[in-house]
Amino acid sequence: MDAVKDADVRDVIVVGAGGMGRAWMDVVQARVGLRPSAVVDIDTSAARAAAAERGWDVPVFDDVTTALREAPADLLLNVTIPEAHRTVSEAAIRAGIPVLSEKPVTPTVADAMWLGALSVTRGVLLATSQSRRHSAGISAFRAALRDLGGAGQLETQFFQNPRFGGFRDEMASPLLVDMAIHQFDQARFLLGSEPESVYCEEFSPSWSWYRGAAAAQAIFRFSNGARFGYAGSWCADGLMTSWNADWRASAPGGSATWDGEMTVRMQGAEGPEQDVSVGSASEGLDAALTEFLTALDGGEAPSGEIRRNIRSLAMVEAAGESASTGNRVELDSVFARAGAAALAEAEAAGEVEVVDQLRAWEGGPPR
Ligand SMILES: NC(=O)c1ccc[n+]([C@@H]2O[C@H](COP(=O)([O-])OP(=O)(O)OC[C@H]3O[C@@H](n4cnc5c(N)ncnc54)[C@H](O)[C@@H]3O)[C@@H](O)[C@H]2O)c1
Repeated sequence: MDAVKDADVRDVIVVGAGGMGRAWMDVVQARVGLRPSAVVDIDTSAARAAAAERGWDVPVFDDVTTALREAPADLLLNVTIPEAHRTVSEAAIRAGIPVLSEKPVTPTVADAMWLGALSVTRGVLLATSQSRRHSAGISAFRAALRDLGGAGQLETQFFQNPRFGGFRDEMASPLLVDMAIHQFDQARFLLGSEPESVYCEEFSPSWSWYRGAAAAQAIFRFSNGARFGYAGSWCADGLMTSWNADWRASAPGGSATWDGEMTVRMQGAEGPEQDVSVGSASEGLDAALTEFLTALDGGEAPSGEIRRNIRSLAMVEAAGESASTGNRVELDSVFARAGAAALAEAEAAGEVEVVDQLRAWEGGPPR
């Protein structure tokens, strides 16, 4: 591969050529200033087909380490299945290549703390694309909540019925682990506060076509006293909500709703119900990529930077623990256990700087 590089163009390695990997390839294709340099998938026929469909004349690899050695790279998109996220991102960070990863950044908080500490000590950016916090609708809803004095009670309903096939059908907690992180992350964005505890029940409706639990209900308490209620199902035929979920909030100045798409409404104690104007905005993957590239250009850290994103992942892990124990779970206890596990691993590996960083993060990375 020609190593001569155009200063204004960044080379991108895309790892994972499934449904979402292909969506990311289209985002790369549409973005001026990015150039694909390799596609990686353990299934090289999928990688080859995805590249060919887009007319990309790039090498295809079945493992990320070889790709990082042989193809030029300024950034790497990690769009593999969750179980592969840590290995793929770690290889890139060790090679000095910034990573924008699909959610969840890793399957566990312990892995995320380990990887976060590695990213910080190596000075190599690792961020998660939490695409559903970027939309015109959520921005308008958030602004409405601010105008009403800040939500004290936030409720969401997520009801969908996808027939995926593949890894989600086999997961123990497909909804909580692969989807709910979006709504949990959206709640952090909307409340402007951080979660402290959760009580959750996770279950499998009798008609579910998943091996694991495809439905859940949870109540989170946030540090500003707000409560966030979540009800979700991935096996709900009929009357589906938006993939961004359906939202309602109660605030000192009144109430607001968002249908997850373009309809935001609000009403105070007096006066009529009003439509809130929803403008246009960079959305989804494209917006997450813009934040990431801005940071690479020396701008602000992206909202999905691993230290900022880790609390969304911790909400998932705490909810799962609550569902399996029947107890309310404090996020501090999740960070204490995860931090200890990550530290033990870093000590065993002799990663001195990572050890120091993890020791400084007792109770979780700074907010
Ligand atoms: N943001 C969103 O709205 C959204 C939507 C869908 C999926 N996702 C996320 O995107 C990721 C991928 O999901 P998907 O639907 O494309 O899954 P998928 O199963 O369709 O594709 C994943 C691909 O990764 C490949 N892969 C697995 N391990 C690998 C490894 N070690 N190295 C290289 N390739 C490997 C698989 O062969 C497969 O082709 C997941 O983390 C998922 O949660 C996000």
